[in-house]
Amino acid sequence: MNSTLQAIVEIRPMHSSDLDHVIRIEREIFLFPWSLGNFADSLKAGYVCKVLQQTNTLIGYGIMMMSPEEAHVLTLGISASRQGEGWGKKLLQHLIEYAKNAGAKSVLLDVRESNLGAVQLYKKMGFQHIATRKGYYPAMCGREDALVMQLML
Ligand SMILES: CC(C)(COP(=O)(O)OP(=O)(O)OC[C@H]1O[C@@H](n2cnc3c(N)ncnc32)[C@H](O)[C@@H]1OP(=O)(O)O)[C@@H](O)C(=O)NCCC(=O)NCCS
Repeated sequence: MNSTLQAIVEIRPMHSSDLDHVIRIEREIFLFPWSLGNFADSLKAGYVCKVLQQTNTLIGYGIMMMSPEEAHVLTLGISASRQGEGWGKKLLQHLIEYAKNAGAKSVLLDVRESNLGAVQLYKKMGFQHIATRKGYYPAMCGREDALVMQLML
């Protein structure tokens, strides 16, 4: 990613006025998307809700739940046309830094076993596979396992 691009992209808190845009990306990139209500509830609950914005366009978003000892990344998404440009890594790095500054000892997340791109990103960022939740996610044919991954801070 070149420095000009980095300079004009900002990571900022998500607002309720972003939700239409966020849900459009969500429906484009997930086979089993969150509902608008899931995002609205996350904002209401005070979760760490961030968007990545370039000029007037949202490129992606991430939501993280904080507890005293650990942070849990609940979702992370980059719009389809902007994937593979380093934005997912940048947004995840931002969330990890946030968790570290808030005093968390680790960051946890769940990821579909078949989501090889995301698993690769998390491994690259230092996450380790620590457990498997059998049949955690709905899938086209039945259910799919979740890998629980953890990054020690
Ligand atoms: C997963 C996701 C967030 C990654 O964001 P991204 O901006 O596309 O990824 P980046 O460009 O930052 O990639 C960073 C690293 O992740 C890995 N990676 C990302 N996508 C990959 C893919 N499709 N295949 C293999 N590795 C991949 C690579 O190691 C990459 O580093 P490299 O480019 O130096 O090889 C994004 O593709 C996405 O939104 N996917 C759909 C929704 C989703 O699956 N979210 C995660 C739910 S747990």
